[in-house]
Amino acid sequence: MTDTLILVGSPRGKKSSSTSLGNHLKSLLQDRGLEVEMLWIKLQLVTEEKTSLMLEAISDAEAVIMIAPLYDDCQPYIVTKTMELIAAQELDVKKRRFLPIINCGFPESSHITAVAIPIYKKFASKIGYDWAGSLALGGGEMLQGRYGKQLDDIGGLGDKARRELEKIADVLAGGIVYSDEALVVMPDIFLKPILADLIRWMNNRMWRSQAEKHGAAVDARPYAP
Ligand SMILES: Cc1cc2nc3c(=O)[nH]c(=O)nc-3n(C[C@H](O)[C@H](O)[C@H](O)COP(=O)(O)O)c2cc1C
Repeated sequence: MTDTLILVGSPRGKKSSSTSLGNHLKSLLQDRGLEVEMLWIKLQLVTEEKTSLMLEAISDAEAVIMIAPLYDDCQPYIVTKTMELIAAQELDVKKRRFLPIINCGFPESSHITAVAIPIYKKFASKIGYDWAGSLALGGGEMLQGRYGKQLDDIGGLGDKARRELEKIADVLAGGIVYSDEALVVMPDIFLKPILADLIRWMNNRMWRSQAEKHGAAVDARPYAP
């Protein structure tokens, strides 16, 4: 039996903020003497054989950590699919622990805690997992995982996430429960009025030019009277 299985649920696969969080947590857990396996859901769902291997790993794990992005306020499809497969297995997971770590693009972690965390919680209780807590990380793109960066490569920007992962590693190694935590990855200064307004303006400009590049009528008001 494996102590901890880290499931990475980013459709981006290995170059993702979820992977960077997973790699960091894996080494913290190994430092604490735990046996850890890490699988990328995207790479497992490609064949029936690999899917079965993933389900075996899930049924063998004392704790499952799901690390995934937020997609449309919810789980990405591959994560939902995995949860459905786990449910269909009717595994005996009593006393096993489940803990999701979710990151999103918007700075506020409330996008994650509003809907996605309750869905993970409902899943855990239906399956019979013990809820070991959750971590919601707003502003996950700041972790730069899509460029292949690891948490240790991004200096102070990774401080808050690193601190929480240390706590989660202690919790998993110590058999105690982490709470439901939510934080914003970006430093507080970026959230102050003038800088926040500037960033919002730049983002809007970027989205607008992308939309126009792809032929969207950005200013269309088809239902305006
Ligand atoms: C299809 C899609 C839907 C998304 N929906 C949301 C959303 O509802 N709220 C949000 O804050 N970010 C959303 N994002 C942004 C991702 O959550 C964000 O980029 C995240 O950092 C990606 O993490 P990853 O690198 O681990 O995949 C979405 C991204 C995609 C591609």
